[in-house]
Amino acid sequence: MSELSFTLACVDCDASYPGLDVRYRCECGGTLDVIHDLHALAGKVGFNLFDRRLASKVLADRSGVWRFREFVLPLPPEEIVTKPEGNTNLYRSVALSDWVGIADLAWKHEGENPTGSFKDRGMTVGITVAKKLGMDRVACASTGNTSASMASYAAMAGMKAYVFIPEGKVAFGKLSQALAYGATTIQIAGDFDVAMRLVQEACAARGVYLLNSINPFRIEGQKAIAFELLQDLDWTVPDWIVVPGGNLGNSAAIGKAFAELHTLGLIDRLPKIAVIQAAGANPFAAAFKAGTPVTPLAAAETRATAIRIGDPISWRKSLRGVTASGGTVDQVTDQEILDAKAHLDASGIGAEPASCASVAGARKLAAAGVIGRGESVVGILTGHLLKDPEIVVDYHRGSLSGITSNFANALRRSEPTLKAVLAAMGE
Ligand code: F0G
Repeated sequence: MSELSFTLACVDCDASYPGLDVRYRCECGGTLDVIHDLHALAGKVGFNLFDRRLASKVLADRSGVWRFREFVLPLPPEEIVTKPEGNTNLYRSVALSDWVGIADLAWKHEGENPTGSFKDRGMTVGITVAKKLGMDRVACASTGNTSASMASYAAMAGMKAYVFIPEGKVAFGKLSQALAYGATTIQIAGDFDVAMRLVQEACAARGVYLLNSINPFRIEGQKAIAFELLQDLDWTVPDWIVVPGGNLGNSAAIGKAFAELHTLGLIDRLPKIAVIQAAGANPFAAAFKAGTPVTPLAAAETRATAIRIGDPISWRKSLRGVTASGGTVDQVTDQEILDAKAHLDASGIGAEPASCASVAGARKLAAAGVIGRGESVVGILTGHLLKDPEIVVDYHRGSLSGITSNFANALRRSEPTLKAVLAAMGE
């Protein structure tokens, strides 16, 4: 397998660049795609190979990212920094399907990755490339999960990590991870979009390797969500994939993964991709509805802090996948997100708020008839319930201003007597 059988190509113009390079944008300012030599893979790589690797004891095969390495990055296994990530479960819940209004509905729980979010899939590739390029310092701006993931992988690879976060808007589970894994963590007095601008400038000024999803190798790793969910479904293509959208790297990656499998003839149709944004952080949903390019939103606001983003970097890449598949982009309110979360959590599956945009979005699209009753749907749950425990307690306590706790499971108090305890039990 040649190491250099891939290149970087601009999403906006036809410029291309060498595959392994410290480069995040085209000279024209556009974002970059990793372009694989798919024709070289034809006939050599198929689903049987990926299934065989499930039984392997080699770490690179056990990873739910590197198991698909021919489509991710053709590097020798000994160069890979892996925990190993992926291998997340696909759940079904009858109660939840009834509430959402879709019978054939499964949930791919990316919160089951090593640091509790889907970001580990992109990060194993980003850090592996950083190592290959000889980098010893990495950085990202983050609403929390990217920073938790990068901090962990950087520590494993012996690299210094710099994390830029929006002050006061990162859930405690995530902030504590960045600190625990030893990243230099800088609260910026501004939102994610400000932190994103500053981290690009700081990386350029000091030669630090940037590991946000503007880094095209992050996207290659995130594609593995698509490969693995197909493998979970024994290589049958669902009708819909529903995914939350913030900076739009994840939806872009899923679209690219399916497009590549389709180009190679490994699947005969594309699943429709539905990207769901929070109503207060909806620049992509608004642009999709209007049929215009994205206009950045000055003050994005949502309690789903992971997707509190007004100026998404990867919107063109994401739109490509949505359009090619005949999918859609929509938005849901914080009330809808938190009510959906109450149902997802109570089903025993559970996830952090941003993930529940998938649940609320699937319900909205089913009610509107966009998703047909008989269609098969996979929703992506992007982060673990414990990433944001505060919002769970506040919701069930009924103390979130502007939110009605429609499905509260109120905490009960009891005096320390049997009589009082039985009364509290309702027995
Ligand atoms: N869900 C969760 C839990 C996230 O952390 C993110 C993004 C998204 C959804 C949206 O994914 O940006 O690829 O569209 N979190 C980033 C971060 C921005 O910094 O952790 P996206």
